[in-house]
Amino acid sequence: MQKKLNKIARDTNLFLKKFIKSQNKSELIIPMKYGLFSGGKKIRSKILIDIGAIFNSNYKSLIIVGSAIECIHAYSLIHDDLPCMDNDSIRRGKPSTHVKYGESTAVLAGNSLLTLAFEILSHENFNISKKNKVDLISKISQSSGHLGIAGGQFLDLNYEHKKISKNKVVEMEIKKTGKLFSFACAAPLILKGKSKNEIKKFEEIGSDIGLLFQVADDLIDYKGNLSTAGKKTGKDKKKGKATLISLMGYKNTIKYANNLILKINKKLTKYGSDKKNLSETLNYILNRNK
Ligand code: IPE
Ligand code: IPE
Ligand code: MG
Ligand code: MG
Ligand code: MG
Repeated sequence: MQKKLNKIARDTNLFLKKFIKSQNKSELIIPMKYGLFSGGKKIRSKILIDIGAIFNSNYKSLIIVGSAIECIHAYSLIHDDLPCMDNDSIRRGKPSTHVKYGESTAVLAGNSLLTLAFEILSHENFNISKKNKVDLISKISQSSGHLGIAGGQFLDLNYEHKKISKNKVVEMEIKKTGKLFSFACAAPLILKGKSKNEIKKFEEIGSDIGLLFQVADDLIDYKGNLSTAGKKTGKDKKKGKATLISLMGYKNTIKYANNLILKINKKLTKYGSDKKNLSETLNYILNRNK
C-alpha cells in the first residue's frame, strides 16, 4: 500500500512542480509549495486511481485531476490550522504554514492553492472534451464551497461545545471531508462520459468513503500521538468538537466505521475483482495511524 501511495505522490508532485514552474514567478509560491509538498498521504488521489482502475481511465488524466484535488486539500489544511479555526501549530510533523510564514500569507497562499486547482483543470494542455472539463470544474467547485469543505468547516466550528445530534455530525463530516472524496470518485466516470445516474452512485460511495476517512481521523485524534500522526492529538476533546466519538464513545465509533466499510463494499459488489485495490485502500484508511 505504501509503495502505491509513494508512486502516486511522486507522479502528482512531479506534475504540480512542472505546472507551477510553467507559470510566472510570485512571492506566494514559496508558502504555497510549503503547504503542498510538505508530505501528505495523497489518499484522495489513491481513491481516484482505484476508481479509475475499475473504469479503465487514462492514468495521466487521473494524475492531473488528482493534482487539482491535492491543491484544494492543501488549501483546506492551511486554513484549518489558522488561529481563527483549529489553531494548530504542527502539520505533517512541521510548523503549520501560518506559523512559518505568518497568518496573512497563509490565508493568501491557501486562496491561491484553491484557485490553482481551477487553473489546472481549465488549462489547454489538459486534453479532454470541453464538456467533461466543465463538468469536472463544476463538481470540484461544489465540493469546495458552501455545500462542501467551506460549509462543513463552518458547521465544525459552529458546533464546538454544543450538543449535536448524530445525523448533524455525520452531515458536517460529509461536507467538510466527504465531498472532496465524492469528487474523487465521480471524476473517473465524468472522464469516461458515464451516465448522470452512475456518476451520482459513485458520488454517494465517495461521501461514505470520506465520512470513513474523517471518522478515522477523529479516532487518530483520540488515540494517536504527535510523533506518528504528525499533528497534535487529543485536541478534539479540548476544543469541544462534535464527533461521533464524543456522542457514542470510542468502541462504538470503531464499530460504526467497520459497518461503513461493509456498506461501501456492498455498493461495489457488482464491480467484481477490479475493486480489490479499493478494498485495500478502505482498510488502510481505517487502520492507519497518521
Ligand atoms: C487531514 O487529511 C484532514 C482531514 C480531512 C481529516 P489527510 O490525513 O489526508 O492529510 P495529509 O495530506 O495526509 O497530511
Ligand atoms: C479537517 O478536519 C477537515 C478539513 C476539511 C480540513 P480536522 O480539523 O479534524 O483535520 P486535522 O485533524 O486538523 O487534520
Ligand atoms: Mg478542523
Ligand atoms: Mg484541524
Ligand atoms: Mg482531526
